[in-house]
Amino acid sequence: MDLILKIWRQKQRDSEGVMKTYTVKNISKDSSFLEMLDILNNDLVNNLEEPVAFDHDCREGICGMCSLYINGEAHGPEKRVTTCQLHMRKFNDGDTIYIEPWRAKSLPVIKDLVVDRSAFDRIQQAGGYISVNTSGNTQDANLTPIPKEDADKSFDAATCIGCAACVATCKNSSAMLFLSAKVSQFALLPQGKVEASQRVSNMVKQMDEEGFGNCSNTGACEVECPKGISLENISMMNREFLKSTLKT
Ligand code: SF4
Ligand code: FES
Repeated sequence: MDLILKIWRQKQRDSEGVMKTYTVKNISKDSSFLEMLDILNNDLVNNLEEPVAFDHDCREGICGMCSLYINGEAHGPEKRVTTCQLHMRKFNDGDTIYIEPWRAKSLPVIKDLVVDRSAFDRIQQAGGYISVNTSGNTQDANLTPIPKEDADKSFDAATCIGCAACVATCKNSSAMLFLSAKVSQFALLPQGKVEASQRVSNMVKQMDEEGFGNCSNTGACEVECPKGISLENISMMNREFLKSTLKT
């Protein structure tokens, strides 16, 4: 199929961006969205033009790098799918497709479709880990019994890939769904209880310092999250935060 692409081009962080129009031809319906962009970039390089910068790594829906706003939706029109797992069969011959980077003050554009997501790294570093004794006396994890329901919920929260679609789709640019997934995955497990209080307060403090907005419970984040992270995690995080403030 032949497509018209309207793509955000921006040379660097502080330069002005502009939507540019491109045409790609003979795209297979079985191509992935990123393969379609690879074809465009090949054409651009062959014409001695600057290729479009976009993030990607695993192309298997697990690393969270691919982050595009496609026709006004984070990760495009298919639900529970990352951009790299989106296929061209979701589009029609002759379609015009708008491709933009995430838009949020805390995720500034670095170039074209690539944004700086280091704010998420700093939130993780503020508390998204557990301390484990690795001196040689480490206890086998299976020796700690965990109710199945808690293990399942913790696993579901741990499937957050840090893509930041939740921030990009939120009218307040809130990072609450991401943060709540990172807090819940540990809050539900005995291994996470030791540092629970510090974890939630340090991570929330870092999130605020990074300039993310507040959650106003519209739920757009849950709808656009490619991993189906539930809003229940935000309730759990709020409970954890309340407990931590009562302790201090
Ligand atoms: S909560 Fe969902 S949308 Fe947000 S970073 Fe995690 S996987 Fe991406
Ligand atoms: S490239 Fe890794 S999730 Fe898309």
